[in-house]
Amino acid sequence: MASTFYITTPIYYVNARPHLGHAYSTIVADTMRRFHALKGEETWFLTGTDEHGDKIVKAAAAAGKTPKEFVDSISGQFQALWPLLGVKNDQFIRTTDPDHVERVQHFLQRVYDNGDIYFGEHSGHYCTGCERFYTEKELENGLCPQHQTKPEFIQEKNYFFRMSKYLPWLADHIRSNPDFIRPERYRNEALAMIESGALEDLCISRPKSRLEWGIELPFDKDYVCYVWFDALLNYVSALGWPDGENYAKFWPGEHLVAKDILKPHGVFWPTMLKSAGLPLYRHLNVHGYWLVKDTKMSKSLGNVVEPARMAERYGLDAFRYFLLRDMQFGSDASFSEEALITRFNADLANDLGNLFSRVLSMNAKYFAGRIPEAGKLEDDDRVLVELAENALANYDQLFDNIRFAQALDSLWELVRALNKYVDSQAPWTLFKQGNMERLGTVIRIMLEAMRKVALCLWPVMPGTSATLMEQLGQPLPASERFGVAPDHNPVEEAGKWALLETGAQIASASNLFPRLDIPEEMKEEKNKAKQGKAPQKAAPAPAEAPAGLAEFADFQKLELKVGTVLECTRVPKADKLLCFRIDLGESEPRQILSGIAEYFEPETLVGKQVCVVANLAPRKIRGLVSSGMILTAESEGKLTLLTPAAGMAPGSKIS
Ligand code: MSP
Repeated sequence: MASTFYITTPIYYVNARPHLGHAYSTIVADTMRRFHALKGEETWFLTGTDEHGDKIVKAAAAAGKTPKEFVDSISGQFQALWPLLGVKNDQFIRTTDPDHVERVQHFLQRVYDNGDIYFGEHSGHYCTGCERFYTEKELENGLCPQHQTKPEFIQEKNYFFRMSKYLPWLADHIRSNPDFIRPERYRNEALAMIESGALEDLCISRPKSRLEWGIELPFDKDYVCYVWFDALLNYVSALGWPDGENYAKFWPGEHLVAKDILKPHGVFWPTMLKSAGLPLYRHLNVHGYWLVKDTKMSKSLGNVVEPARMAERYGLDAFRYFLLRDMQFGSDASFSEEALITRFNADLANDLGNLFSRVLSMNAKYFAGRIPEAGKLEDDDRVLVELAENALANYDQLFDNIRFAQALDSLWELVRALNKYVDSQAPWTLFKQGNMERLGTVIRIMLEAMRKVALCLWPVMPGTSATLMEQLGQPLPASERFGVAPDHNPVEEAGKWALLETGAQIASASNLFPRLDIPEEMKEEKNKAKQGKAPQKAAPAPAEAPAGLAEFADFQKLELKVGTVLECTRVPKADKLLCFRIDLGESEPRQILSGIAEYFEPETLVGKQVCVVANLAPRKIRGLVSSGMILTAESEGKLTLLTPAAGMAPGSKIS
């Protein structure tokens, strides 16, 4: 039996229009499912909308609509967007669907009958933005840590889920299944939440006197279900739990979410599953945030990126490629059209586009567009074949481990190697020399390798993959589910080098990604940001700053960032030095030396957040390289580390 792969996205709140963040999660989920489909697995892909709760009621009121009218309209916008982004979900769930409502009630009754739901008095700090209560300990200076707003203090009688009963078990499960939550930093974060002791039982009801827009509790008609308890259940209700065919076939699945909703997915959901006796999900895959100019997207800042507009402007596949290639999965990334164009020109126009264009036109010129036969391989060819096989194996493994940027980079190693191979083999010289056998071998090897590249691109760039395969005379079959379906598994085929048909007529040209110019206004924007002043008019020569003062431009040269101390040790034979390893949100921790050993015990600094000058030129101190500086404040012989007032993601910019 084929193995199965079930992937979900968060179901999005319908209080606002879809934006780049929602598009990213959904495109990544689409890409993951296509990758598994390509490998012959039976796949199911679910997305949808989360339609209950206070937040929606408030947004509907603000729009002058009833909740039902309001959710219908925004859910429709999400459903209409996905096809424009090449997303082929099998199912779209809405938490107002009658089937979902019935299954949530069934689940609630089961947990209630198990004795894991009780009635009690409750008071707490409620944040509508998060749709949840916070304990005193969880607040930061009295504010919600996510929204930095003051929560409402509410006291009422409610139903509670005995979550605390399952927390020790969950901590054990996370410890013994290291990739249950991945990447690792989120696994550690989830464990830290559980170990902090701040988590209590979960309040899972709202009295109807306060909120009617929700699923009624099956055991008390005066209450509705808490929106998160209802929403998380979509992942199994959509499959027809408890007795649906799809549930039996596809559960347990994989979830994909961003870091903002780690707690409900990493803590609430597994304890709910455990209490009701359902198997846990396979992996929780957690990504970072897309920022715009290093700040969060928000309507009030007017910096919300519209995904459909980007796809229309730059081409759907180029947009998808950029999203997968420019975000290191797990870390935050900055979106800009300039970065997209730069990536487009380097990878798609120069590397991939150029390769197809050169090789197809040479084949047209030298072999009248027919696929030549390969003769005996030489050493150079064998090196290329080996490189290609390694690149494909790495692509497969990295993709499986949700390291999409690195997987694509591995594929591009092959694309770049092929371009170099053209240069080093110089087919035009072979042609001049009349060495047609060698010329045939060179062209054939390249066409075979290009076919492998084209196929591997299918998960990320389905349209491009189909076009390139067609140019190579290998059209992908039409499919109801995907538009075009791959029927070759590039991983299984990696070692096969005679998959094209000798003598077949193929395309004589390819021009998929013509270079883009960076528009003048974007260049100006960039200069403006660099100089901190408007570039329109020729700027007067800057007056020299008075002695003792720094120019703004000098200050701007500094890159200040928040980091988390991972390790801190004394440097042998250096009384003053501490050696830090600091997480700055980069792929590797930074090593930074600091002369503050007399003020601190190194082990007390581990886990602390510090402010770091991140772009100081590296230097060697006592044979150790130090790349950066940790900021401290000193007064009357006392020294303290500068640290942000609230916990910040490593790598957060200080400005
Ligand atoms: N309704 C809940 C999820 C319930 S799932 C059972 C919710 N909805 S949401 O509309 O706020 O969506 C949050 C998700 O949208 C994030 O986890 C992420 O998948 C996506 N993103 C929203 N903004 C984002 C960025 N700026 N960057 C990347 N993804 C982000 O939470």
